[in-house]
Amino acid sequence: MAIPHLAKFPTIHVDKDEENLISNELKELIRCCPKEKGWRTSFLYKFQGYWCQTEEIQAIISFQKHFRAKTSDVIIASIPKSGTTWTKALTFAILNRQKFPVSIQNHPLLASNPHDLVPFLEYKLYANNQNPILSDIPEPRIFGTHVPFGWLQESIKGSDCRVVYICRNPFDTFISSWHYCSKIRSESQPPLPLEEAFNMYCKGVIGFGPFWEHMLGYWKESLERPNNVLFMKYEDMKEDPISHLKMLANFLGVPFSTEEEEAGLIEQIMKLCSFESLKDLEVNKSGKSIKNFDNKHLFRKGEIGDWVNYLSPSMVEQLSRIMEEKFGDSGLKFKVFSSVS
Ligand code: A3P
Repeated sequence: MAIPHLAKFPTIHVDKDEENLISNELKELIRCCPKEKGWRTSFLYKFQGYWCQTEEIQAIISFQKHFRAKTSDVIIASIPKSGTTWTKALTFAILNRQKFPVSIQNHPLLASNPHDLVPFLEYKLYANNQNPILSDIPEPRIFGTHVPFGWLQESIKGSDCRVVYICRNPFDTFISSWHYCSKIRSESQPPLPLEEAFNMYCKGVIGFGPFWEHMLGYWKESLERPNNVLFMKYEDMKEDPISHLKMLANFLGVPFSTEEEEAGLIEQIMKLCSFESLKDLEVNKSGKSIKNFDNKHLFRKGEIGDWVNYLSPSMVEQLSRIMEEKFGDSGLKFKVFSSVS
C-alpha cells in the first residue's frame, strides 16, 4: 500500500517552501486521523491503519517520496523492541566480514552502536532531511525501519532487494516496550502504569501497531516471496543461534564457507553481537544513537519469558485470546517461554 497523499507533492526538488507545504499538509492530514494518548509522546495518530507519532509520519512521507532502492540493499524491519539492535549487528557483521574481519581490534561494532552502522530510515536518515543523499553509501547498503510492510517504498517492494523481519512474541515485546518507554519518557511526563499500557497494547495502540497487523504483513510476504523477505523470530534465534546465523547469511547471499565454519567464524560473530558483549561496550553504556535516548536502555535483559514477572493471569488470558483471534490459521506461532536453561 502506497501512501496516497504523497502523489500531491512535487518530486526531486526540495526547498524550504516544499518543507512548509508538507508540514501544512501533514497538519491537515493529522487533523483527520484518529488520535489516542501516546506511550511517551502526548499523542499517537492512526495514519493509514497504523499508530504513529507526527514526526515519524513526516519522515515516512519523505522516505516514501524520495527513497530509491538498489538491488543489493538490505532492509532490517521490525516492530520496536523485537530484537532490532541484535539483528542489525548480526547483519552488519555477516555482510561486512571481508572488509571488517570479526577478530580485528577495531571492528566497527566495538566502537559504534548497531543503530549508527545500520541507520533507521525514519528516525535518522529522513528525520531531519527530506531527501538525504544515500547513493554514496557503499554497497550493500543496510537500513533499518519500523514501518509496516505496506509502507515500504515501492522500489523496495518491487525490486530484488532483501528484507529481514525480526519478530518477537507479543508478551515479551510488550514488556520490553513498556520498560523502554518508561526509561525514555521525559521527566515532566507522569509514569505510564503497566495496566494502562497493556490495555493500549491490546487495542493495538502502540508505535507502528496494531502489532498483529505489522507482524502478519511481513509474515504473509515472507511466505509469498521467501527469497526477498526473511521472517526471523527472536526466540528461535536465542535458542539456536548457529542455524539462524547460517540461515541469515544464506538469505543475504553470502553463505559461510566450510573453511569459515571450521575456523569458528559463526561462533565469533555470535559472540561479537551477543547481548553480553554489546551491553558492556563503552559506546553502548554512555552513547546516544537513536534521537537523544541513551543507548544503555537498548540493552535490558535480553531474555525469553520475562513477561511472567509482570502479567497477571487475566492479562495473559486476554493477550492469548487476541493472538489466537488475530493470528488464527495464518501459521504464525510463538514460543513464549524459554527452553534454554
Ligand atoms: P528486553 O527489554 O526484553 O531485555 P530492540 O533492539 O528491537 O529495541 O529490542 C530490544 C530488546 O532486545 C531488549 O529486550 C534488549 O535487551 C534485547 N537485546 C538487545 N541487544 C540484544 C542482543 N545482542 N541479543 C539479544 N537480545 C538483545
